[in-house]
Parts: sequence; C-alpha cells; structure tokens
Amino acid sequence: MTEQGTHICVVGAGTMGRGIAQVAINAGHLVSLVDPNQHQLDAAAQDITARLSRRNPEAERLVSERLETARTITDTPPHASTVVIEAVVEDLAVKQRVFNDALRHFGASCVLATNTSSLSVTEIAAGTTDPSRVVGMHFFNPVPVMKLVEVVHGLQSDPVAVRTISDLASAWGKHVARVRSAPGFIVNRVARSFYGEALRLLEEGAASAETIDALMRTAGQFRMGPFELMDLIGVDVNLTVTRTVWSAYNYDSRFAPSLMQQELVAAGRFGRKSGQGFYPYSEGAQRTTA
Ligand code: NAI
Repeated sequence: MTEQGTHICVVGAGTMGRGIAQVAINAGHLVSLVDPNQHQLDAAAQDITARLSRRNPEAERLVSERLETARTITDTPPHASTVVIEAVVEDLAVKQRVFNDALRHFGASCVLATNTSSLSVTEIAAGTTDPSRVVGMHFFNPVPVMKLVEVVHGLQSDPVAVRTISDLASAWGKHVARVRSAPGFIVNRVARSFYGEALRLLEEGAASAETIDALMRTAGQFRMGPFELMDLIGVDVNLTVTRTVWSAYNYDSRFAPSLMQQELVAAGRFGRKSGQGFYPYSEGAQRTTA
C-alpha cells in the first residue's frame, strides 16, 4: 500500500484537526474528518477549501473528492490501511475512548497517532486495547505552515508503527524529530519558560504584553512574542499543557500556572479563536490593537 493509498481518519475538527486534514488532502489522501459537533465539521470543510483555494484553483473539487465528514468514527467507511490521527481535546480519557473506538472499527492493523501536546503517549496507549498501535504525532500550529513534527515513541509503541508515522510526516514535507515519551516532549517543555517567565514579568508589572512581544520579536529574533503566540495556540490549550507538565513533574514550582492566565481562561478569553485573549481580535482573527 503506497503512502497516498493510506486512508487518514482525523478525529477532532478544531484548530489542529482541520490543519492536519488539509495537509493530508493536499498530499493526495482520502480523509475522513470526525467530530460530534456539526458546526465544527462545516467550519472545517469551509476553512480547508478556502485555504487550499489560495494556491489551487481545483481546491473545491479536490476537497469534495477527498474529504468526507462524520459525527462518529463508526460512521466512516472501513479501509484496508488506515492511520487515525486524533486532535480532540487534551483529555486522557477522551483520547483513550477515541482510540478504542478506532481499534474496534478499523481493526488491529490501523495505526493510532495522537497529536497530544503534553500528555504521556505511554499513558494514553495504556488505556487502549492495543498499546503497541499508539504513537505520538505532535504537529505545530498552523499545521500547513510549521515544518516540525515530533514523533513520540511510547514505552509500548511498535517500532513499525513509529516508522509508519515518521514516513507519513516526511512524505508530507515535515521535519521529523524522534522523541521518547516525556512530559511536554521537547518543544513544549523548553517553551514553558518562554511563556512562564513572560507571564511572571507581566504579573509583576515590569512591562506590558505589547512590549514583551515586540522585544522578543525584534531583539530576540523570535517569529512571535509569547503573548501573541499563546493567543494563536489558544490560551486554554496553553494552560492545559502547563498544568500537565506541572503535575507530571510533581508540581515543581518552575512550571506553576500563572494566575492571570487562569483568569483569562475562566473568562473565556482563549485568544484568536474566541475573539479575545491577551489582545482583542476582530472577525477573521486580525489583532485590533497593537
Ligand atoms: P480545539 O478546541 O480547537 O478542537 C478540539 C476539537 O475536538 C473540537 O472541534 C471538539 O468538538 C472535538 N472533540 C471533542 N471531543 C471529541 C470526540 N470525542 N471525538 C471527536 N472530536 C471531539 O483544540 P485544538 O487546539 O485543535 O487541540 C486539539 C489537540 O491538539 C489537543 O490535544 C491539543 O493539546 C493538541 N495541540 C494543539 C496545538 C495548538 O496550537 N492549538 C498545537 C499542538 C497540539
């Protein structure tokens, strides 16, 4: 079976799921996108078509031929070779349920990739009926643009399954970094200090979010400052990652979540996707103030 002949089942049609589906469609795969929320499915199909149309006048036809949407995994047609990529909420039990449904529906030969940002791949796998099928496939946001994919080897991952996921990511033009399962893997672990120290500075009143972002961009040569990046990622998603790493390291104070960030999340200020985070956004996610 060629890589293109592999059926890709993306579970979760949010920020990451729709990016992953777009990349897979563009690479020639048949893609099933699964989400219980019909609004998310409709918005994802629209988004994918609009983004692919920027470069491909045939985008509409491509999407109608290669993308099918479904509310549950059991509503997708079975295929001989399926890779399931889950991008649902960052919740251990939900991810385990998705994989067990997938194993029942697609059979034991499917490979199960998790896009978790910070949960233990070994632990996700341990709650499934076949832990050997589970591999981490950690994309970065926005998926069609960001080149890096961390391919994470859980303690019980089958090396063949790990190779399948590495090969797939390479075929999609991604740079693959192989990592063993560890809290936050590489990038999210190192980045805890980038966000954490910036939040502490803001809470201490040392500088504004705008100043810190501008400095990190201009003098620090980062493509985005910490606050605009949290707004892009999702302030809620970022907080969940921090909490997971914090608890995995026995509540080491280095990783303690910021009170200000918790307040933003409690108020529903998740960043671009909700129209307000550290900065306000107009529709279409443009920042409305500097
Ligand atoms: P999101 O909140 O934008 O989307 C999550 C989607 O999952 C929603 O559409 C929701 O309806 C759906 N969902 C919830 N339960 C489901 C179920 N049982 N079956 C199918 N769909 C279900 O979240 P986002 O940002 O796309 O994150 C998804 C995963 O990717 C998380 O594990 C997150 O940690 C990870 N991630 C996020 C990144 C980011 O920058 N946002 C970067 C890398 C990884």
